This record gives sequence, structure tokens and C-alpha cells, in this order.
Amino acid sequence: MPEADNEGARFFAEQPQKAPGFFLKGSHQLDWGMKNRLARVFNPMSGRTVMLAIDHGYFQGPTTGLERIDLSIVPLLPSCDALFCTRGILRSLIPAESPKPMVLRASGGPSILREELSDEQIAMDMDDAVRLNAAGVGIQVFVGGEHETQSVRNMTRLVDAGQRYGIPVLAVTAVGKELTRDARYLRLATRICAELGAHFVKTYYCEEDFDTVASACPVPLVMAGGKKLPERDALTMAYHAIENGAAGVDMGRNIFQSDTPQAMIRAVGAVVHESVKPADAYEQYLRQAASS
Ligand code: 5RP
Repeated sequence: MPEADNEGARFFAEQPQKAPGFFLKGSHQLDWGMKNRLARVFNPMSGRTVMLAIDHGYFQGPTTGLERIDLSIVPLLPSCDALFCTRGILRSLIPAESPKPMVLRASGGPSILREELSDEQIAMDMDDAVRLNAAGVGIQVFVGGEHETQSVRNMTRLVDAGQRYGIPVLAVTAVGKELTRDARYLRLATRICAELGAHFVKTYYCEEDFDTVASACPVPLVMAGGKKLPERDALTMAYHAIENGAAGVDMGRNIFQSDTPQAMIRAVGAVVHESVKPADAYEQYLRQAASS
């Protein structure tokens, strides 16, 4: 039997990991504050989340769709479960009256002008995250990247700080141009993040064996959106990620670069929280887009 088949058999992807007394896998033995923050990011009814990722400016400046966050993103806030943004955008543009949980980008360094993006540092102290009432913090981990060890060390330092204050850490598995986004790589990257203490992990979707990526990762996985796709394809990708074990999405460009971001984020919400099939979610998108 080929090696891949042997591997697959041991993931028991169809057998959900137990989390007695709490709705999120791998989180049932955390402290109250940590669980409370996770229960704000993830909807306890569905066990899932639609995070809206708008942190792109931290390395690429005013990304298409994010030029005017006050105009393009603030109106979308009611339709997401959590916002993933930088502290600069939070303080300058996101209304403090918003009841939505904020997950703050806590790494940075190189800009898009540099070849090597993996040379990041921790870019925010945990006490500022506390001051900002963050529901979580997110950091890039470059498994296989040139600065792999440094980025892993950044994450473990952030996890130590998060543990002190009860703030969950989202590890974002960054895939360099030279790395293949297949299940084998994504299993490696996500598992390393979880083993080293990340409380939830953001990763890309892969068409083959994504269920093994999710089942081998002992903490919740949220699917990254990636570059803009036609709406129907993005909804299909989100659907398959959820059906194969993701606990939600953290999508950016596929929402805010859509012609009708409001219709798109609602359609993503239907897929994530209600497991609406992609064709029906796309119909819903078209209907809402036409009436907006
Ligand atoms: C890169 C990131 C981003 O900055 C962002 O969150 C990506 O969102 P999307 O790919 O859905 O536009 O995490 O890895």
C-alpha cells in the first residue's frame, strides 16, 4: 500500500476529537479568560467563526479594498464574528463602540518591497493587547522559511505572554512562494504551531486530504482565504474546508475585494454557520448583490 494511504488511515478524520465541557476542540482545559475570549471569536452555537481579515496593510500598505477602511470595512462589522486587524487600524478607524471581538496582528517587520518576508519580529506587547481589550492576537509562522526558527520563537514568546494574560494566540501558517500548499506541508506547519502552544491556527485549504490537516491539528483551524477568486469558487472552498474539519474562516480579499462585500460576507456566513451548500450560498450572494 502506498505510504500516503497508510498515513491517511491513522488520522481518523471522521472521529471528532473530544473536548468535554467546552465547544471547541483542544480548548476545554484552558483557563476561564482564555475560553471566554475564544467563545467570543467562535460562535458557541455553531462552534464556528467568520473572521474578517483586514491586516494586509501591515506589510503591503493600502491593499485594494482596504484603502478606506472607514468606508469599506466598518459597514461589514455587523456581519462578521471577529475582525483580524492591526492595532493601528483598530485605534484609528474601528469604532470603540463595536461589540465585535478583535484579534490583533502582533507580528511585522519586512515590507512587500523585501524579497524575504519571513524576517518578522513580535510587533506588539501583550499589555497593549490587554489595553485594547483584544479577544486574541495573531502572528505569522514561516515553517520551512528562511527565518523559520525566529518566527517560531516569536510565536512561543507570544504564547507565553498570552498564557500570562489569558489571551489566545492565532498562529498564521505562512506559505512562501517556494513551498507547496499540500496536505503534507500544511499538516507539518499547523501541527508545529499547535504543539508549541498556539490556541488556534490559520492555514490554507488544500483540495486533497484537508481532513487530515484538520484532524492532526489538536486545536481549532480557521481557513485563510488567499488571493481573490470568483465568488462561487471562494464559497466552494470555504464549504469544503468546513466540511472537512475547519472551525471557520479568516478571509480577507475574497470578501473585501468582492464587487459586493456585504453580500459575500453574508454568503460566507451561511456556509460557515449553517453548512449551506456552495450553489445555494452563491444564489444567496447573487440575490443580495442584485438588491444592494
Ligand atoms: C497573510 C495573512 C494576511 O495578512 C491576511 O490575513 C490574509 O487574508 P486573505 O489571504 O484572506 O486576503 O494572514 O498570511
